Amino acid sequence: MNRKKLLHIDSSARLEGSDSRRLSQQFVQQWIATHADYQVIERDIASKPLPHLDQTMLAAMMSPIEQHTPEMAEIASRINLLVDEFLAADVIVLGVPMYNLGIPSTLKAYIDHIVMAGKTFAYTDKGAVGLVHDRPVYIITARGGIHAGTASDQQAPYLKTLFNFVGIEDVNFIHSEGLNMGEEIRAKGIQQAQQDIVRSVA
Ligand SMILES: Cc1cc2nc3c(=O)[nH]c(=O)nc-3n(C[C@H](O)[C@H](O)[C@H](O)COP(=O)(O)O)c2cc1C
Repeated sequence: MNRKKLLHIDSSARLEGSDSRRLSQQFVQQWIATHADYQVIERDIASKPLPHLDQTMLAAMMSPIEQHTPEMAEIASRINLLVDEFLAADVIVLGVPMYNLGIPSTLKAYIDHIVMAGKTFAYTDKGAVGLVHDRPVYIITARGGIHAGTASDQQAPYLKTLFNFVGIEDVNFIHSEGLNMGEEIRAKGIQQAQQDIVRSVA
């Protein structure tokens, strides 16, 4: 039997004691408990970070395979692996801490690998169009302060627009906020996120 795939991506630089990791793990466990036909693909882009875009990577992305040096061929195969993994996922779950109002640079490096012309989007005479079939994406954020719905939230609007850009409309956020604002506010933030996880999985 071909099992469906849940791609779980974690990006907190804290490998221990991370709230986004704990909450995204809770989401995945609850999903698996209620959707027996899923297998989980784990991708930890903080403990195994991807290289940032540089001249050679851009050249590998923009030139035909026949012109690839061995270094460019290696980059192209890394990109293909990540794009194929992304496209094969029926559900995508991300754990995302807020760093300096935005996403971790490790997640940006991942995005720079999978947003590929001709694979996940295409240029047309009407502008860029997404090539990815819709699928649910759940983004579990962890934030020291409270930002949702305000101008200081440079994470959620960016990620929503980015997934929409490649064709994914089913983008869902679960925020855990106020985590560095004292025990009481922190506890409320975690509790809210846990309730939202239960609701989302159901
Ligand atoms: C480098 C760094 C930058 C941060 N920037 C922000 C920020 O801009 N806004 C905010 O609310 N919290 C900020 N925080 C707090 C984290 O978002 C918070 O601790 C969150 O729980 C981190 O996620 P994690 O527990 O999964 O590691 C920052 C933390 C670090 C380490």
